[in-house]
Amino acid sequence: MRTHYCGTINRAHLNQTVTVSGWVHRRRDHGGVIFIDLRDRAGMVQIVCDPDNPDTFAIAENIRSEFVLQIAGSVRLRPEGTNNSNMASGEIEILATAMEVLNTSATPPFQIDDENLSENVRLTHRYLDLRRPVMQANMRLRYRVSKNLRDYLDTHDFMEIETPMLTRSTPEGARDYLVPSRVHAGQFYALPQSPQLFKQLLMVSGFDRYFQITKCFRDEDLRADRQPEFTQVDIETSFMNEDQIMALVEDMIRRLFKQLMDVDLPAPFPRMPYAEAMNRYGSDKPDLRIALELTELTDLMKTVDFKVFRAAADMEGGRVAAMRIPGGASLSRKDIDDYTDFVKIYGAKGLAYIKVNDASQLSEAGLQSPIVKFLPEAALAEILRRTGAVNGDLIFFGADKTRIVNDALGALRLKAGKAADEWQPLWVVDFPMFEYNEDEKRWDALHHPFTAPKTGHEELLVSNPGAALSRAYDMVLNGWEIGGGSIRIHQQHIQDVVFRALGISAEQAREKFGFLLDALQFGAPPHGGLAFGLDRLVALMSGAESIRDVIAFPKTQRANDLMVQAPNHVDERQLRDLHIRLRHIEKNNPEKNGLEKSDAETAKAG
Ligand code: AMO
Ligand code: AMP
Repeated sequence: MRTHYCGTINRAHLNQTVTVSGWVHRRRDHGGVIFIDLRDRAGMVQIVCDPDNPDTFAIAENIRSEFVLQIAGSVRLRPEGTNNSNMASGEIEILATAMEVLNTSATPPFQIDDENLSENVRLTHRYLDLRRPVMQANMRLRYRVSKNLRDYLDTHDFMEIETPMLTRSTPEGARDYLVPSRVHAGQFYALPQSPQLFKQLLMVSGFDRYFQITKCFRDEDLRADRQPEFTQVDIETSFMNEDQIMALVEDMIRRLFKQLMDVDLPAPFPRMPYAEAMNRYGSDKPDLRIALELTELTDLMKTVDFKVFRAAADMEGGRVAAMRIPGGASLSRKDIDDYTDFVKIYGAKGLAYIKVNDASQLSEAGLQSPIVKFLPEAALAEILRRTGAVNGDLIFFGADKTRIVNDALGALRLKAGKAADEWQPLWVVDFPMFEYNEDEKRWDALHHPFTAPKTGHEELLVSNPGAALSRAYDMVLNGWEIGGGSIRIHQQHIQDVVFRALGISAEQAREKFGFLLDALQFGAPPHGGLAFGLDRLVALMSGAESIRDVIAFPKTQRANDLMVQAPNHVDERQLRDLHIRLRHIEKNNPEKNGLEKSDAETAKAG
């Protein structure tokens, strides 16, 4: 039904007769001549309908936005001065000689080129939203990224193997999505949070190099970079150490950026230990495009009387840190108040600051601040020295538990700083094995319980769990964690020690992961791997603010699909088949059940 895609016709087709099919993007009646911008997946072309051809003109007079047309005509140059450089076909137009309406369209709920649509409207009519050129481009990029990565892995002898969707709980640590079994009353499958255990088993089976581009499911709090179902490029290899794995996948990402975006990423990517990332940036996924850094003051503040700082410095697990904002002395009272409210989201109790007006006067004369009067001159001098502050700068302070200071100043860094227009990849390495869970008073695995400890740190697993480092690595790009993985434990006795450190008894371990523990006993090779978040990678490459913009049919922040209206109620019969009786469901108050409430609110939040 066509000879060419609309968006591909150009000067080279001058004077040719072509047939195009597509949607009416816009129709303009210039009194006597009607112009139609016809759109298809390749772009747009301008159609001219002249009254000299009464048949096409009559049809053109009655068409509306989003009608589907087939048009034949001849390609000609646009008149001098009417070129449209925004269109690939902007130099030419098609003079219509025949036109057929293949389908009409109801008035769409929004203009396809409207750029200020609410996300709820877009998601409700996603099939129309996906007609927008930017969404078409995003989906095409997504396809090209997964094709590029698949090709790379294929040429490096990786084999794609599918793993089950109906399975049981995996160890990523989010809540599971459960699927009730009809056959086994009262029993449930879990949808995989990742193929983690299966890919390790494939290594035990000798496949050596596995990958899979696959859906993962996690019931967790959603954000701009998190969806309940998302896609991983999941990779596992045998007989490779972490340096070899990192070199391989780094090469894959470098090639991807070169081939699809003509961007040269550094070789090798820089590496930073987790502890350094937390100390300098307050984050395990620092955005290195932003120049601001945290400065350690905990030791210094053990020597002052100012209670807010001294108490945090003396507290076990406390931290006092500063962040210099170059030129920040020009911030207004209101700016500072806004930042203070902002850090409170992260649990900070306040946001002390010093405006450096005249660094030669270490008192309120030179330093404008609510706290200078509480700090001795020597401490002030040392603060200026460590932060490198000069006249015109502002210094913010955080004093609290380390986690709060890091979260608050880390987030403030992203808000107050300006990201340079560049690509900054980074490997974060030397993660701790465990992280203390204050609520449960126990150690949790920072990655997952099958992550191998650093060589030489086996003793620490028992003697000082908090100091044991792992063989895990995360790939960070412009402040987004785009991938993460580790070398795994392949020996039963080390796995036992890790379970013990995590407070998982032998029976519990057997109950949950018995199949993996068994497999480890039958000659498991040394192995490791990682998984990339495909949605995040594509979002970054496309410049989208949310991964929802690179997923064809995403869910809202409240995990709703607004188009198909999922989740939804099911028949009593279906429930009975599944041996399920609902409780606490207030039939006439869906909001109470959290079923339909406030997607508008949550869309705004994210
Ligand atoms: P991890 O849990 O770090 O590791 O996940 C790997 C990558 O998946 C992406 N990701 C997400 N993307 C969108 N929405 C989500 N809810 C979401 N959660 C994670 C991130 C992340 O870096 N089995 C291990 C990998 C391994 O050890 O090999 C795993 O799943 O980009
Ligand atoms: P206050 O003593 O509460 O009046 O606080 C004095 C200054 O310290 C104010 O600018 C507060 O915003 C700030 N402040 C209070 N608590 C903290 C904290 N935990 N960390 C950083 N600044 C704080």
